[in-house]
Amino acid sequence: MTNRMKYCIANFKMNKNRIECKEYIDNLYENIHNDGYYGNGNKIRMIICPPFHSLDACQDKVTTDAGLYFGSQNVSQYENGSYTGEISASMLNHIGSEYVIIGHSERRAHFNESNDTINKKIKISIENCLLPIFCIGETRDQREENLIKKTLTKQLSIGLSGVNNSNFVIAYEPVWAIGTGQTATSEIITATHKMIRNILNDIGFDGKKISILYGGSVNRSNAKELIALSDVDGFLIGGASLDIEHFYEIYKFIEEST
Ligand code: PGA
Repeated sequence: MTNRMKYCIANFKMNKNRIECKEYIDNLYENIHNDGYYGNGNKIRMIICPPFHSLDACQDKVTTDAGLYFGSQNVSQYENGSYTGEISASMLNHIGSEYVIIGHSERRAHFNESNDTINKKIKISIENCLLPIFCIGETRDQREENLIKKTLTKQLSIGLSGVNNSNFVIAYEPVWAIGTGQTATSEIITATHKMIRNILNDIGFDGKKISILYGGSVNRSNAKELIALSDVDGFLIGGASLDIEHFYEIYKFIEEST
């Protein structure tokens, strides 16, 4: 048994305006309070990652007893200065973000984020007290060509280069499973999470102490089965998180599993 923290993370991506985000958070907060869920004695964190425009709108609901936290979906690799359109780790921290998604496959694919850039973002986030939710995962071609271990090793070793603490969470998100409805099987997830823990050990971390989440078409129908897997420490949820009832149902499966 380990004491790894469990996570239920909503990634709204580029969805919901400020009013919709606020409504969602207010309802969620009310549900948590009515049901008496308070992070199960600090064993679970529910983290909502809205677009930047809504982080501060949610700030009044950040209370440690509710087990409800906020994260951003991206961060600049730079500290501050002439970088038009960017937002820094310290600015995010200032408006209530305690977590940050880094290395999501959509950022790697659409915004050409390299492993080196991701490494800079991870380091600057940790320095500014943001806990990175570091996304890794192989494409379908890489899986079919048997390049899974090579791909994950590269993403982890470059992404975590120079990081000398364990203040991060890993999200294993096979690219072929994101937004496709093709969830990875329990066998694939179990084998890959074990592989990730071994790679973490090989590059100087203690793999069994680091929370590893699964992401990729998680929904209310598969969450219960997946959270029962001993190496799965929670979920990063895109599409299904946009519907509050759907997301809350998944959260309850995690609560019940602890
Ligand atoms: P999905 O997205 O749940 O819609 O597959 C997951 C993610 O992109 O983090």
